[in-house]
Amino acid sequence: MEGTSVHRLLALIFLLSRSTNQVHLTVSPSRSQFFQYESVTLICEDENRSDGWTVRRNTSRGTRTECKDGWGKLNGSVCNMNYMQPSDSGVYWCESRSGSSSSSSIQLSVSGGSVILQSPVLPVMEGDDVTLSCRARNPTHNLPAAFYKDGSFIGDGSSGHMTLLHVSSSDEGLYKCNINVMEVISSSRISVKGQRSAASVSDLNTFSPILN
Ligand SMILES: *[C@@H]1O[C@H](CO)[C@@H](O)[C@H](O)[C@H]1NC(C)=O
Repeated sequence: MEGTSVHRLLALIFLLSRSTNQVHLTVSPSRSQFFQYESVTLICEDENRSDGWTVRRNTSRGTRTECKDGWGKLNGSVCNMNYMQPSDSGVYWCESRSGSSSSSSIQLSVSGGSVILQSPVLPVMEGDDVTLSCRARNPTHNLPAAFYKDGSFIGDGSSGHMTLLHVSSSDEGLYKCNINVMEVISSSRISVKGQRSAASVSDLNTFSPILN
């Protein structure tokens, strides 16, 4: 049992050049880290909003598999994935049915753990402000978090967020976050009965679910 142990997750921030492809893969919700059992919608969008695209992926379970190959539901150029598993982690992209053109790819990761570090869907552009969010599966509200880059502490986020301003290549690296604070809602009632002043303390401490 991990109790108050520290939870860490890793995320990489890449700085990539802006794609000039005609089709873009949009992820909704717009993030690249997910908890197991969450759902995501992958949308291939081109200027003509055509249906001529499919979503493909490379994961440990197979390369270049299509949304309709059993891991998603394709509707037009939109692929829905429900109840994601860690094995759905991998690289996703849009591709024309003929295979002649494709979008830039994005990395999605699905965590079976209790804390994820959310970073934006790639690419992050030089000069952008990038918000990192350290999110617990349970409780789902924001908890204070500590952030690290390449093993060094870089700051606290009281609500679980940290923003990197005007990122440049020097911001590239391996980021992680901890949530090691358990929320404790504590209240004690003291009741005194009788003249012998036998005091009893009923302890009403309640603890939020342990992050395991
Ligand atoms: C997917 O895997 C194939 C086969 O290994 C590789 O050629 C291709 O570059 C990969 N695609 C992406 C977007 O990583």
